[in-house]
Amino acid sequence: MHTTLTDHLSTAIVKLDRHFIIEYLNPAAEMLLAVSRRRVYGHSIENIFFEDETSIAALHSAIESGHAFTKREARLLLTNDKTLQVDYTVTPLMGTESNAEHLLIEFYPRGRMQRISQEDELLVTHKNSKELIRGLAHEIKNPLGGIRGAAQLISRSFQDEELKDYTQVIIEESDRLRDLVDQLLGPRQLPKNELTNIHRVAERVNQLVDVEAQGKIRIERDYDPSIPEINGDSDQLIQAMLNIMRNAMQALLQDETNNDKRIRIVTRTLRQFTIGSCHHRLVCKVSIIDNGPGIPAHLIKTLFYPMVSGRPEGTGLGLSIAQSIINQHNGLIECSSKPNQTQFNILLPIAT
Ligand SMILES: Nc1ncnc2c1ncn2[C@@H]1O[C@H](COP(=O)(O)OP(=O)(O)O)[C@@H](O)[C@H]1O
Ligand SMILES: [Mg+2]
Repeated sequence: MHTTLTDHLSTAIVKLDRHFIIEYLNPAAEMLLAVSRRRVYGHSIENIFFEDETSIAALHSAIESGHAFTKREARLLLTNDKTLQVDYTVTPLMGTESNAEHLLIEFYPRGRMQRISQEDELLVTHKNSKELIRGLAHEIKNPLGGIRGAAQLISRSFQDEELKDYTQVIIEESDRLRDLVDQLLGPRQLPKNELTNIHRVAERVNQLVDVEAQGKIRIERDYDPSIPEINGDSDQLIQAMLNIMRNAMQALLQDETNNDKRIRIVTRTLRQFTIGSCHHRLVCKVSIIDNGPGIPAHLIKTLFYPMVSGRPEGTGLGLSIAQSIINQHNGLIECSSKPNQTQFNILLPIAT
């Protein structure tokens, strides 16, 4: 009965014994992993795909601890030399005594979700360009103080008001540049670690956006009230979420053809979720979904880079800052977009 069920399942599953020998593999897994069952039964899982050393270590610890885990964006090298990008979940199946006798692996081929997380190559490039920008920002900032101070001194020695206006321009422009550079440098302090209610953060952001949008956008809430408080810095989290919401608002407001402008905020918890290489028992997911025109295709790959903007008056810093903040909270932001539906997910670990 069970094998009939699993044979018809469209999700690829593999069952291993405690030595990682393949005991069962359903047709969906045969398709996905490009192997035939007859050939692989009795062989080690390592014979049908290879990821890296840590994946075998993770299987060991799943057997030892009895805890399930999910690995995101794994790149598997298959026997036909092709690579396969999947998420997979490993669940230890308990035997008669209280230790795990088998492992069940479920594979999910990667969808469209663009994930920005510690393990991404993208983030490495991002990190390099960020270092560069930080360096540059500091180089700009250092002389600015001097320029401003000098302008103030000069202005004192002027009697002529008109000349003072000029020095005022220097001072104001230096201040503007300093603020811009500060934004480029991102949040300076490490996040405060206090228990924060994610809905209080969301409500504050909604309030701000509501005022800015002057009632032109409907904000719908779909909250899971049972989400425990998270550890974090509420001011910074407000900033991160506001940057994402404000983009949604701006995209909606510029679209004159849409008379039903909506942003939906959905909060949920996820169990057994891996962010970067860190496994969390409980994660809070905040989704911000707008029905605007969508993110221009040429932006989507570099969206989180500083100074990438699709708006003439944009700085392109909003998402870069949001990402720095969420990363500092050990979380991640993911994004997917098509016309009428752009979704950003903020994932934050909940300490249990
Ligand atoms: N919800 C959204 N809908 C459409 N486009 C978006 C959305 N969110 C972000 N974008 C695009 O991403 C760009 C970068 O956003 P951001 O980093 O906040 O910088 P800025 O808002 O200053 O341009 C925006 O200019 C916009 O083109
Ligand atoms: Mg923005």
